[in-house]
Amino acid sequence: MLKGKKILVGVCGSIAAYKIATLVRLLIKQEAEVQVIMTDAASDFISPLTLATLSKNPVLTRYVADDNTGEWSNHVALGLWADLMVIAPATANTIAKIAHGHCDNLLTAVYLSARSPVVLAPAMDLDMWLHPATQRNISQLQADGCQIISPGEGELASGLHGKGRMAEPEQMAEWIATFFSAGRPLAGKNVLLTAGPTIEPIDPVRYITNHSTGKMGYALAQAFADAGAQVNLISGPVALQLEHPSVQITHVQTARQMHEAVTTRTATADIIVHCAAVADYAPAHAATQKIKKQGDKLTIELVKNPDIAADTGQKLQAGQVHAGFALETENEQAHAQSKMERKNFDLIVLNSLNDAGAGFGHDTNRVSLLFREGKREVLPLLPKSEVARIIVRHLTNILQAKSHVV
Ligand code: PMT
Repeated sequence: MLKGKKILVGVCGSIAAYKIATLVRLLIKQEAEVQVIMTDAASDFISPLTLATLSKNPVLTRYVADDNTGEWSNHVALGLWADLMVIAPATANTIAKIAHGHCDNLLTAVYLSARSPVVLAPAMDLDMWLHPATQRNISQLQADGCQIISPGEGELASGLHGKGRMAEPEQMAEWIATFFSAGRPLAGKNVLLTAGPTIEPIDPVRYITNHSTGKMGYALAQAFADAGAQVNLISGPVALQLEHPSVQITHVQTARQMHEAVTTRTATADIIVHCAAVADYAPAHAATQKIKKQGDKLTIELVKNPDIAADTGQKLQAGQVHAGFALETENEQAHAQSKMERKNFDLIVLNSLNDAGAGFGHDTNRVSLLFREGKREVLPLLPKSEVARIIVRHLTNILQAKSHVV
């Protein structure tokens, strides 16, 4: 299945390094070309001779050979050679280094030079994995386009029990095979996606919100991840869960928080989709204490929230794809068309509350797709998962068309 695929395997110093012998054997068995690079610490855990024998290639550890022959390893050539770079086990130390662009050894220099997609299989102790610094570094690497094969739960070398065990070699080999198989047209691409409602506090016990459950947005996150993308999902409060190694969820409450989360991630996204039902207005001042019942009327002053999609639409870089939704109750086409223009969308997905089974809360949706260049596609009532797949297919086509132009 992997015939002719060139795979760089970067091994770091962790007890899990012994599993890399099996991974290399599985890749070679599938006829991949494998080049192993090890850090110095990795060779404390597994012998370079073992991995050289299994990979049928000398293992590289240093820029310059130790034997005074002047022979050196060209990190740029290695970075260009690979179809995929796998860093496994990826230790907290190497993760921190590459998240910050350090290159003090051959492996980290090759990472910086690699033009191929990069996948990391982290391995470390429970508390190291959960530490905010490690989680920050992982988020940074995901934002940089790296994919993560999540560590599993179980007994750790320290004797503790929890998350941090490197994925098993068979699981990694399967991930790699899937990566190279057809149907992952967005491999190596970043998607930024909003979902769910926002809630705007009136006082500590009350808020303004809407009926969005996040189902449409989460279905999109799943469909983008299935297509190989790395997904940054900015989610308002919903009751849904999504566990996917390629989906990073940031939870927010208010439109302003969602705006900030989107703004800080826009530059690195290839595709940006606004599926959230964002409150257009928020109370001017959220009371710090519960508002007491007084008189027959209560007036709450509302102020306009930022329009996240319109703001993003003004800052787009060449090649980025921008899409959103329109939820309408009357004059649907005209409103959707004007939103597409105002917010600088390539595609707007129109759903109407007049259609049974469409919009908020349902597992189904009935949408029309309006394209910037004037084309229109009307879909029948479909499960939200299927609607999501169709939207992802169209956005992939738009991305590919734009990248030919750029
Ligand atoms: O979550 P579910 O229960 O599955 O329901 C799905 C859905 C109905 C929420 C979804 O299909 C949908 O239509 N989402 C957009 C709802 C909406 O707010 O539409 P709008 O027409 O008000 O906004 C137009 C676009 O601008 C949207 O992409 C919206 O995310 C964006 N927007 C709106 C206001 C604002 N302040 N900032 C924004 O970015």
